[in-house]
Amino acid sequence: MLNEIYRAMLNNKSVIRETFMYGRQRAAQIGSENVFDYSLGNPSVPCPPEFTTAMQTLLAQEEPVSLHGYCPSQGDPGFRTAVAAHLTETFGLPYAQKHIFPTTGAAGAIAHAIRAVTQPGDEVLTFAPYFPEYGPYVAGTGAVLRVVPPQAPTFQPNLDAFAQMLTEKVTCVLINTPNNPTGRLVDGALLRAAAEQCRAVGAVLAVDECFLPLSDGAGPGLAPCLAEYPNLLLLRAFTKSYAMAGLRLGYALSANGGLLERMAAAGPPWSVSTPAQAAGLAALEQCSDWPEKARALLASERPALSDGLAALGLEGPAIGAAQRRLAAHILSHPEDNTPARLLALARAELSGP
Ligand SMILES: Cc1ncc(COP(=O)(O)O)c(C=O)c1O
Repeated sequence: MLNEIYRAMLNNKSVIRETFMYGRQRAAQIGSENVFDYSLGNPSVPCPPEFTTAMQTLLAQEEPVSLHGYCPSQGDPGFRTAVAAHLTETFGLPYAQKHIFPTTGAAGAIAHAIRAVTQPGDEVLTFAPYFPEYGPYVAGTGAVLRVVPPQAPTFQPNLDAFAQMLTEKVTCVLINTPNNPTGRLVDGALLRAAAEQCRAVGAVLAVDECFLPLSDGAGPGLAPCLAEYPNLLLLRAFTKSYAMAGLRLGYALSANGGLLERMAAAGPPWSVSTPAQAAGLAALEQCSDWPEKARALLASERPALSDGLAALGLEGPAIGAAQRRLAAHILSHPEDNTPARLLALARAELSGP
């Protein structure tokens, strides 16, 4: 017997994962060197070499019973302390172990957060356009995802529309900065205003910051405001910023210890493996400057990518028009963007007339 919620979700296949599997299939046919897969946001560079060395040392020297044993279900104290110390060093603010809850990537942080703060029938708000995986994370809890309409061309949150949708049914607001897919950093004043509005109605504001350390000029985001907003939850990961998608390591950061405890209770214990947390600790010890180096690398490679796309004709009027039509559909039908529908539209657009 299948839970009916999950049965319904089976009909909404993830366009991202479907495209990734298509890329794998094509790679088997024509060679992986001929497939440029931008589906899953896999890092395009290897993880820092210092990290590889640290992992080799860890496996060779760490006592195996401890490295592969259980850790406290709230997370490994060494890893949590190292994350807090790193944030303190970066932002000059007094974080401690109790502010950190380790998760399986940003995805695990989002899923735990939504489970912790919703009951079936509650509403979760997010802003269009949004990372489509939020849909299943919310649907799996029996809550309802409602989408605040977008504001083109800035794609900054529409706080007037948001204020109208922020009713007592809303227990969680999910916002992503910089945003996938627009790439835009959310304006700091708007973020604080959203945190204020959420606090007023008792909703949690969960900020998906998984790309923040790779963003030029992003600064600390809302991290300095945690003490002011006990309803604020920052969700971060090593995935993008350390090029370690497969390690599945992230964390939630909040000044609200009770909220983090509820998150820990809202999923299976030990969802992050002890070796993954040991690896994260090694990354922070050996190469915490990597996100900074990665930002410089991205800046130096960006022109080559856009020039290369232009040389392939991918910035010409035809592709531009197709992108605009797709974007127009996405933006004007925020409630109707099932992955299957978007994939069908993209296929139709890109295969041409
Ligand atoms: C906006 C956003 N949030 C969360 C995730 C999931 O990240 P992770 O792999 O760390 O779980 C992604 C992955 O691409 C993403 O783009």
